Amino acid sequence: MKNTVLTIQKQKEEHDKITMLTAYDYSMAKLIDSSGVNCILVGDSLGMVMLGYKDTLSVTMEDMIHHTRAVSRGAENALVIADMPFMSYQTSVYDAVCNAGRLIKEGGAQAVKLEGGVSVVPQIKAIVDSSIPVAAHIGLTPQSVNAFGGFKVQGKSLRDAQRLYDDAKAVEEAGAFCVVLECVPAELAEFISGKLRIPTIGIGAGAGCDGQVLVYQDMLKLFSDFKPKFVKHFADIGQSMKEAFAAYISEVKNGTFPAPEHWFEMAGDVIGKLN
Ligand code: KIV
Repeated sequence: MKNTVLTIQKQKEEHDKITMLTAYDYSMAKLIDSSGVNCILVGDSLGMVMLGYKDTLSVTMEDMIHHTRAVSRGAENALVIADMPFMSYQTSVYDAVCNAGRLIKEGGAQAVKLEGGVSVVPQIKAIVDSSIPVAAHIGLTPQSVNAFGGFKVQGKSLRDAQRLYDDAKAVEEAGAFCVVLECVPAELAEFISGKLRIPTIGIGAGAGCDGQVLVYQDMLKLFSDFKPKFVKHFADIGQSMKEAFAAYISEVKNGTFPAPEHWFEMAGDVIGKLN
C-alpha cells in the first residue's frame, strides 16, 4: 500500500516509528522500497554522496528533478519526498511554489522538503496552499553551513533551544506534515516531539523522535569521506563491493571470467566459412 502524508501522520498517533532512508536512483529506490521503509527522501545530500561536492550548496533543480524522477519510478509503496535545493525557495514565495511544483510534476515526488523555521513560513504556507505537502527541516540545516560556520549541533543553549522550539511550532502552524530534526540534543528533540501534532523525523536527534532518517551510503558504509557521530553502520557493503571488484579484476586477468555459461555460441560452422 502506498504510504501518504495521512498514513505517516497516523503512525505518530499509533506510536509506530516512521522509517525514512535516502535514495537517488531507480535500483536503490526499488531495493529500499521492497524492504518496507515508509518514506524515501531524495535528499540534496546527493551533492556530497553522489556528486562529490563538499556540501549541498551546488545542487541544482535539474539535479533534483533528474534523481527524483528515477527514484519515483522505483518506489512503489514508500512516500517519495524531494529536497528543494539551495536558492530554489529562499529567493521568493513565487520561486518556492514554482520549484516545488516542478519536483511534483516533473520529478513525480509526493512531497517536498525545505530547510528553515520561522524564516520560511510564507514559503511553506504557499506551497501547502498549492496542494503540495511540505516536510520541514530544522536544527542543523546543511544549506546554512556558511551561516553556522560549519556542521554543528544546534539548540544547546537556552536561547538556541527556544529558537528551535519556536521554529518547530511555526512550521507546524504553517502546515508542514512532518519536520526533520537534524543534530539536535536528544532531550530537546524528545520535548519537541511531545509538543507537536505532526511527526518529527530525527537524524542525530536521539530516540525520542517519531521516526528516523539516514543517508543509505552512511548506514551501508559506502561513503568514507567522514562519519558523523549519529551514523551507525548496519552493514559494510563498501568492503563487500571492494572484494567483489578485486575478484572481478583477478578473474578477468587469469581468464576464469567469463566462463562458457556467460557467453553465446554459434550454430553450425559459420566461422569456418568466413573468408
Ligand atoms: O539531504 C538529506 O539527505 C537530508 C537528510 C540528511 C535529512 O536532508
